[in-house]
Amino acid sequence: MRETLFSLRHSLFAKIMFAAGTMLLLGIGALSMLNVRTQNDLLMDNILAGGDRLMNTIRLGTHYAMMLNSRDDIAQIIANISRQPEIRNIRIYNKAGQVKFSSHPDEVDRQTNIRHEACNICHRTEPPRLRLPLADRTRIFTDNQGQRFLGILSPIYNEPSCSEASCHVHPADKQVLGALDLVVSLADVDREMVLYEQKTTGLAAAVFMITALAIFGSVLVFVNRPIKRLITDTRRIGRGVHPDRPAVTREDEIGELARAIFQMSNEIRAKHNELHREKDKYQNLFEHVPCLITVQDRNFRLLDYNREFKDTFDPVPGDFCFHAYKGKGIKCRNCPVEKTFRDGRSHYSEETGYAGDGSDAHWLVTTAPIRNPDGQIVAAMEMCLDITSLRRLEERLKLSEQKYRTIFNNVPGAIFVLDPDTLTILDCNEGVTPVYGYPRQELRNTSFLSLFRDSEQRDWQNRLRTSPVIEQARHRTADGGRIFVTIRISPAREGKQDVLLVITTDITKRLEVEQQLIQAGKMATLGEMATGVAHELNQPLSVIKTAAGFLKRRVRDGRPVPDTTLAAMTEEIDLQVDRASGIITHMRDFGHKGRIEMEPVRLNTVLTRAFDLFSRQLRLREIEVDWELSAELPMVRANAGRLEQVFINLLINARDAIDAAWDGREYGQGDKRITLRTFHQKTLVFVEVSDTGTGIPPEIEDRLFEPFFTTKEVGKGTGLGLSISYGIVEESGGTITGFTNRFGGATFLLKFPVLGS
Ligand SMILES: Nc1ncnc2c1ncn2[C@@H]1O[C@H](COP(=O)(O)OP(=O)(O)OP(=O)(O)O)[C@@H](O)[C@H]1O
Ligand SMILES: [Mg+2]
Repeated sequence: MRETLFSLRHSLFAKIMFAAGTMLLLGIGALSMLNVRTQNDLLMDNILAGGDRLMNTIRLGTHYAMMLNSRDDIAQIIANISRQPEIRNIRIYNKAGQVKFSSHPDEVDRQTNIRHEACNICHRTEPPRLRLPLADRTRIFTDNQGQRFLGILSPIYNEPSCSEASCHVHPADKQVLGALDLVVSLADVDREMVLYEQKTTGLAAAVFMITALAIFGSVLVFVNRPIKRLITDTRRIGRGVHPDRPAVTREDEIGELARAIFQMSNEIRAKHNELHREKDKYQNLFEHVPCLITVQDRNFRLLDYNREFKDTFDPVPGDFCFHAYKGKGIKCRNCPVEKTFRDGRSHYSEETGYAGDGSDAHWLVTTAPIRNPDGQIVAAMEMCLDITSLRRLEERLKLSEQKYRTIFNNVPGAIFVLDPDTLTILDCNEGVTPVYGYPRQELRNTSFLSLFRDSEQRDWQNRLRTSPVIEQARHRTADGGRIFVTIRISPAREGKQDVLLVITTDITKRLEVEQQLIQAGKMATLGEMATGVAHELNQPLSVIKTAAGFLKRRVRDGRPVPDTTLAAMTEEIDLQVDRASGIITHMRDFGHKGRIEMEPVRLNTVLTRAFDLFSRQLRLREIEVDWELSAELPMVRANAGRLEQVFINLLINARDAIDAAWDGREYGQGDKRITLRTFHQKTLVFVEVSDTGTGIPPEIEDRLFEPFFTTKEVGKGTGLGLSISYGIVEESGGTITGFTNRFGGATFLLKFPVLGS
């Protein structure tokens, strides 16, 4: 019952019905009352007017009798008129309030109190009011049986006809002579009124009922039921069941509302689907992102975690973060989740724990707060990126750097790290001290060029940037001495900076040993050339001998020598002595140890000098020499003395090969021939020594430059000539190759870089 009342109180339908019913009831009620009242007023007005007319009729009817003072006539007239059923009483009062005539004869001459009843109408004021409107002269009263009556009082005024009549006693100054009082019953009127009231009430009730029913039906059909359908639909939408069409298909406001709800439902469905997709996407991301994600409460209890986390740690339900990650029983000291709960911000930290397999693991941890709609932090999300491999790499890198440092500092040799633009020494190893005598720190931030001689620095500046290897360079040491070094240059990167990694190797000792070897080679060559040189020297000596013999015979015979002859002979002797001493000087120079330094060299000159020592030997063997020297040959950087030895070695080999090839054979013009050719192309200078000897069989082509490789008989060759030559050419930055030429002989091709390239 209470529930019904409650639902009624909160029912829109009941409210509408109550409001409409009340309004209708009040309206119809008010209308009916107004109607009844108006009707009553009208009836009363009619009664009044009728009464007034009756009064006038009585007054006029009795006027004549009064003029004649015929009391019987007056009484008769009154009696006649009062026979009408609705008339209760007709009285005529004199001025003193005495009933002079009455339709009830027993009342005649009865004195009434003028303060009471009808008299009071005029006598309530002193002096009494003479003229009163009809409304004031009427009264309604009820008798003992409850019947209502209407009394109308009309004063009887003194008229001239009255005061002047001889029969009369009324003085002229008397204005009112008495009053006519008519009392009519209101029983009929009251009956009529009650009837009318009943009819009106009945009609009002009928109208009320019909209208109320109509409103009830309309509200039920047009409002209540559609709204119920809308409510049902809306509730279903709330539960996620979306309708296929609007709940109400009408064109009024409720139809509009139904369409709006249907549209809203469609939009909600679309949004919902989109939300689902987004949620799936993020869920997918959450699950498959390759990092560990957990959601934790204030007590570090795991509320949620992604698949990666589950696969790695397989936590028990309700597990704690510190336990799952580190197997600990209490929270970590520096916990980013705790900080996030405290200040609502993201925090980062690096944590170390155990991976799923129990091995050490490192994580980069990031946290973020999760808030409820009121902005309160209800959870914290923790993302851990596994950086174990990175850390291991870092450790390996650190170790490798330490290793590199150890190697860098302990390799036997000087290593420099240079700025490729300025050639400033950015770093150098401990090895620089034993090589250069400088402490490591002293060389840092100085120019690498300062290790070269001042005059050569410009030259080296270019070569350091372009050549990967400089075979031989001269460097200064801290004590002002000099050393020879091989420089190896390789571009590298240190961090983000391009650098040149330069390794210098002290080759001074090696060069000295080589020098000794070369010297030995030279001695061998000198020995080799001894016969030839003896022949060379023989010629000037025999010229001098002949001249001396001639002069001796003349002196012995006592025959004078003509001056011209003497002059010519001394001239010739002088010439031959010069020639012999030239040969001896050349031999001495060649045999001399010589300098190790490189210098700008003209290859044509060195080649010609080497040949000078040799020309006679070749001539004796009838070996022709072709010269094809380029006149504009650029200079090269080399050691002239050593190069001369190279060319002599090549000429000796060519001579031997030609001897071997033509020994015991017929030969003609040009068959025994050595061709010496020089030329240059771009940045290279070439020297070619070709012969018409035995040529080089393919099987020994690769072994030509090996030390002690010889095909000559024991005692004839040591197998060092080409090997030493190879080293000499290489230290000048050049190369030497040997192959069989188109004449069947051998060609040795030497290439040198042009000076300054
Ligand atoms: N012009 C050439 N023609 C053919 N073979 C040559 C020629 N030059 C060198 N060879 C071959 O190369 C070998 C090595 O020459 P290399 O000059 O090094 O030593 P060698 O001449 O035998 O002895 P050494 O020069 O020490 O007296 C020679 O034994 C020879 O077989
Ligand atoms: Mg040789």
